[in-house]
Amino acid sequence: MNGHHEAMRELDAAGAFSGAPWVREAMQAVPREAFAPNVIWRDDGDVYTRVDRRTDPAGWSAVVGGRGPVVTQVDDGTDAERGEVATSSISDRLAVVNFLTALDVHQGQRVWEVGTGSGWTAALLAHRVGPSGRVATVEIDRALTDAARTRLAPWAAAVEVIAGDGEDGAPPTRVDGPWDRVHVTAAVTRHVPHAWIEHAAPGAVLVLPFSPPFGSGSLLRLVVGEHGVASGRFVKSVAFMPLRGQRSHGHDVFEEIRTAHPDHDSTAVDWHLAGLSADGNYSQALALRLPDVHRATSAGGAKWWLHDGKDSWALVDDTPGAGHALQGGPRRLWDEVATVIAWQDDAEVHAYDFGVTVEPDAQWAWAGSPEERWRT
Ligand SMILES: C[S@@+](CC[C@H](N)C(=O)[O-])C[C@H]1O[C@@H](n2cnc3c(N)ncnc32)[C@H](O)[C@@H]1O
Repeated sequence: MNGHHEAMRELDAAGAFSGAPWVREAMQAVPREAFAPNVIWRDDGDVYTRVDRRTDPAGWSAVVGGRGPVVTQVDDGTDAERGEVATSSISDRLAVVNFLTALDVHQGQRVWEVGTGSGWTAALLAHRVGPSGRVATVEIDRALTDAARTRLAPWAAAVEVIAGDGEDGAPPTRVDGPWDRVHVTAAVTRHVPHAWIEHAAPGAVLVLPFSPPFGSGSLLRLVVGEHGVASGRFVKSVAFMPLRGQRSHGHDVFEEIRTAHPDHDSTAVDWHLAGLSADGNYSQALALRLPDVHRATSAGGAKWWLHDGKDSWALVDDTPGAGHALQGGPRRLWDEVATVIAWQDDAEVHAYDFGVTVEPDAQWAWAGSPEERWRT
């Protein structure tokens, strides 16, 4: 548990708990280590490697006591020694502090959680809501659900673990009445499921990771208003794995789209792409203005590959003096990007002044205030 104590000391020293001392109490009472399974996956850069506590206790402790997330499943579950894609993890502690602080949970509240994973955050929530509150947590993966239910047995009076797709909303549970808080721990890449809002009380708070395909993942905090509308701003920058039903096309389809639509034109580029890649305000503007455009970048961010998942693509390179964009398909994706960059040059909207409004039949993004909005 040395890792736990050191990590808590670091969080304290950084003032991480100043907005919500209850999160500190909950983390002291329910350490992350207690929810880590025997088999976890070490991030070795381009591959995840299996680490078993029973055969490599030091390797296991190094990951679990470390600062990053603990990957608990790869490739939707495998017995192999290596895996490619992390599909469940126990989040890094600071991300959890940020989420729970934004969620602002109180004793006696009813909380709906999407993405049970190991069960750690459900236990933290149960600790907070106390005996008069309720937590229902849903996990899409059957094996993870069963393991989390066992780990959460000591909290069984307060926590209900449900196997299912959290995007469908709240299935019948032991909880009577609407949710006061909704805690989502797998990322929305495009549309916030309205079911989360339908089952929430007016004034309820939802926090969720929002990871559009352009990049720039952030924590979104929505407050439920009247007539099934929820609205709010981005709060922090975070990286989370997507909801299973919202996994979007990755970079791998770029060549397929380019091969199917080879005709292209070339445009001169005089923007500094690496600078734009590193600027959170521009990234947020691009991600929200172009919600269906996927971007991959080279290591320094000076080369971009764009596609729309269907039939349009652009390959952009900012080599000094010779920068150019090749664009193919019915849309001119680089031209669309350049229009957004020019808009942000004038508007200068800070990343955390962008927001989202979710209505029963539409979703909007906005800059500055909900009146300045566009449909996404
Ligand atoms: C980052 S992990 C959650 C971490 C978890 N809160 C914990 O404390 O360990 C995300 C989880 O969301 C689950 N998930 C993804 N899509 C889901 C969906 N549509 N409904 C419910 N769970 C989902 C994944 O299987 C994964 O276990």
